[in-house]
Amino acid sequence: MNHTTSHPAVETIAWQGDESGHLVLIDQTRLPLELVTLECRDVETVWEAIKMLRVRGAPAIGIAAAYGVVVGIRDMGDDPAELASRFDEVATYLATSRPTAVNLFWALSRMRDVFASLAGKPNDEIRSRLLAEAKAIHDEDRQMCRNIGRHGAELLGPSIKGVLTHCNAGGLATAEYGTALSVFFTAQDLGRELHVYVDETRPLLQGARLTAWELMQRNIPATLICDSMAAQVMREGRVQAVVTGADRIAANGDTANKIGTYSLAILARHHNIPFYIAAPSSTFDLSITSGSEIPIEQRQPDEITRGFGKQTAPEGVTVYNPAFDVTPASLITAIITERGVIDPVNQDAVARHLG
Ligand code: MRU
Repeated sequence: MNHTTSHPAVETIAWQGDESGHLVLIDQTRLPLELVTLECRDVETVWEAIKMLRVRGAPAIGIAAAYGVVVGIRDMGDDPAELASRFDEVATYLATSRPTAVNLFWALSRMRDVFASLAGKPNDEIRSRLLAEAKAIHDEDRQMCRNIGRHGAELLGPSIKGVLTHCNAGGLATAEYGTALSVFFTAQDLGRELHVYVDETRPLLQGARLTAWELMQRNIPATLICDSMAAQVMREGRVQAVVTGADRIAANGDTANKIGTYSLAILARHHNIPFYIAAPSSTFDLSITSGSEIPIEQRQPDEITRGFGKQTAPEGVTVYNPAFDVTPASLITAIITERGVIDPVNQDAVARHLG
């Protein structure tokens, strides 16, 4: 049975037209109430969309930024010095949109390499090659997600009936199938029956708004819980595995993901439940040795005190709002990538896997 037909035809990220075209994104801040798209015809709109989480999730941010570069140099002439200066300005600017997901910097670096290889070529040709590179990043992610799903579904095995996930690592966070959710979608495609417990994911509710929505679109049984209920759900034996995505994985396997992931890994260890990370190789940052070097994004206090426009804390209260945390490799049972499974998770195994 093919369950994917119930998924909306709207793509998370799409390019319209040729190299003079524009980027179209699902505005994820409007989900689940409205499925609406946002047209990005200038680089400022792409930057704002990433910053404000209209497009979010590590791979999706990278794809959007790659297209953002093409949008950003659209109106330039052929003067090589002016074009090079504008390209650098645009790529540097997009890199300031969010700090933690390494896919953003990985994608921009690929775009920089292509630009550097085309020095002196006419603007039209440069833009068409850059658009081809952005499309390649997009297409490769689609394929990586499928392969992560294949390896992950095999790893989970038929005995696992209940799983828990955090934040959104689905089609909305990637080119298409997702990373953690790709494991569940693939298991479903294989005829397995999985019940997915979904952490709502305070403070911005990516689990409640996006993951629950994606699972329901695909008719996968899903139960929404508050983040603080995970321990109880584990104690009651409702889940036999935890699978989440990642924003950046250091050379030793330490993994940054949405705030709350680290505590889930500790809870999983206590309850003797395997804790899996699903991520493409573009999420690894081998330039850093451990998770302590991963920059953690700090976001505005009002996301906690006035979430979705309703004040829920006293005016002026001090707030700490890190958007991500780092789960040490020692708490991660295995990392599922498009190439297979890293188990155990340590520096040697990561190097061998990616080498
Ligand atoms: O702040 P967000 O919504 O961009 O955070 C996203 C996550 O933490 C995801 O789990 C991660 O990017 C993996 S997406 C496949």
